[in-house]
Amino acid sequence: MTLVYEGKAKRVFNTDDNNIYRIEYKDEVTAGNGAKKDKMEGKGRLNNLITSYFFERLAKEGVDSHFIERTSDTEQLVKKVTIIPLEVVVRNFAAGSIVKRLGFENGQTFEKPLVEFYYKEDALNDPFISDDHVKLLDLANDEDIAELKRQALIVNETLIKIMDEMNLKLIDFKIEFGKDSEGKILLADEISPDTCRIWDKETNENFDKDVYRNDTGSLIETYTKFYNKLEEL
Ligand code: CDP
Repeated sequence: MTLVYEGKAKRVFNTDDNNIYRIEYKDEVTAGNGAKKDKMEGKGRLNNLITSYFFERLAKEGVDSHFIERTSDTEQLVKKVTIIPLEVVVRNFAAGSIVKRLGFENGQTFEKPLVEFYYKEDALNDPFISDDHVKLLDLANDEDIAELKRQALIVNETLIKIMDEMNLKLIDFKIEFGKDSEGKILLADEISPDTCRIWDKETNENFDKDVYRNDTGSLIETYTKFYNKLEEL
């Protein structure tokens, strides 16, 4: 089946069904918009298993996504959507770019979750943008913006609940949305330790890509540990 798109971590293929794509998770890991890049055997499998678990749990909690089913260790079938070029970030605690940019203390608690938009445009380095920029760039209208924020906050609530069951805390995460053929906004892309910051509640140990970004541990061992915890639920 023909390749539709190849990103840093996944390949998207057409299927016999015009409304369905097949996604293959790759063993590639990148950080800093591709500045750091490595191949890690088993990474595609782990992120496919973890994302599939999250999308299934979210569906049970009433959050629809593009996810249909996992078909192998590294593949899943998804509904065809047109991705809205926005990275929707939700933060419960300060970490990463918001610490560097605005001077919050690493790990500082936010009284309520913060939702931010970043323009998904590699050539511009995915800059932070305001709601007015989102409209000016014609990426979403007021109604869409409200819907993106509403869904992002429900995803946050659900993920916090899952992490809590594992004695972990959800620091922040990035999600993406698409529009289906009827124009309905659907959660898409992936939810994995590549796209979330997850800390141990007691020790603040990282269960996410920061171990790779900061060279503080083995990515495969970290993701495997996270997946094993998820399997115990
Ligand atoms: O990760 P970094 O410090 O560059 O950016 P951030 O704005 O602090 O990232 C917030 C959250 O979104 C983290 O959980 C990142 O892993 C995730 N993120 C992502 O998945 N993809 C990006 N291109 C940027 C951030």
